[in-house]
Amino acid sequence: VGAFLECRSALVTGAARGIGYACAQLLAEHGAVVTMSDLDADALAASAARIGRDHHARCRAVAGDLTTPEMPQQVVDAAWDFGGLDIIVNAAGYNLNARIAQMDDETWSRMLEIHATVPFRILRAAAEYLKRAHDDDVSASREVFRKVVNVSSIAVMGSAFQSNYSAGKAALVGLTKSLAKEWAPMRINVNAVALGSIDTRLTQPRTAKNTANLGGAMVQLGTSPRAMEAVAGAIPFGRTGTPQEAAGGAFLLCTPWSDWITGQLLVVSGGQEYGMSA
Ligand SMILES: NC(=O)c1ccc[n+]([C@@H]2O[C@H](COP(=O)([O-])OP(=O)(O)OC[C@H]3O[C@@H](n4cnc5c(N)ncnc54)[C@H](O)[C@@H]3O)[C@@H](O)[C@H]2O)c1
Repeated sequence: VGAFLECRSALVTGAARGIGYACAQLLAEHGAVVTMSDLDADALAASAARIGRDHHARCRAVAGDLTTPEMPQQVVDAAWDFGGLDIIVNAAGYNLNARIAQMDDETWSRMLEIHATVPFRILRAAAEYLKRAHDDDVSASREVFRKVVNVSSIAVMGSAFQSNYSAGKAALVGLTKSLAKEWAPMRINVNAVALGSIDTRLTQPRTAKNTANLGGAMVQLGTSPRAMEAVAGAIPFGRTGTPQEAAGGAFLLCTPWSDWITGQLLVVSGGQEYGMSA
């Protein structure tokens, strides 16, 4: 395989594991230098080291909670210093499911924060650098397309017990479509993927072990086996997707073959059409 992303520099959030990791891996495999961001410092360091070793790639790990207001700027500055900013994949996220009657304000706002505000802050922090890179291209009389891929979900089509998550992922689509228009003059493709059910810890059983410390609080991750059974029946391919399959959809929006695609929400779901239940 040709290293067609050679000389390209990518930033991937949520890259310690799951879909963000698979995106970072694919980008590195195809030649990109990758800055990986996640709050889980140990897992992130191990993941960056693995990708560096397996793909002879330059990877930089920047650990920290992206919901702290200063972190997105720090991550973007680190990526710029490491190699530039040609590709940004916003994948950090999780879900906090609840019936709306029992959903407190924090459970609502945390989903808007991680799925909409964090990508907003990352992209706001990147704006000045992207303009600088574009100005250099114009001075050199070359046309270069840079890429933003925001990881959304088919929950935007509605998902019981996920009104907070669905609203956050829908806000991300609005951000995507608006920036696609705002940044088109800078030759930046801004797209989103609406992922279906993917086999990560978010869709594994809700066991006592499947928890994580996110934003200072322990969060129960996972989905009930009953809901996953229903989901599998709704996927024409008959199973959940792998993180690599999910990353494939995001990756193609990072390649030169997507240069004429912008402002789109690409559904990557094995044909699954609806959001999932808790
Ligand atoms: N798994 C699915 O079925 C599915 C479906 C649709 C969309 N998604 C989306 O895909 C993205 C990746 O999810 P995944 O399934 O790979 O989950 P995952 O838990 O395997 O990976 C998510 C990563 O994001 C990191 N993260 C979470 N909050 C963070 C924060 N505040 N700061 C920095 N890092 C943070 C976590 O530490 C974790 O390593 C999420 O945005 C999720 O909403 C997943």
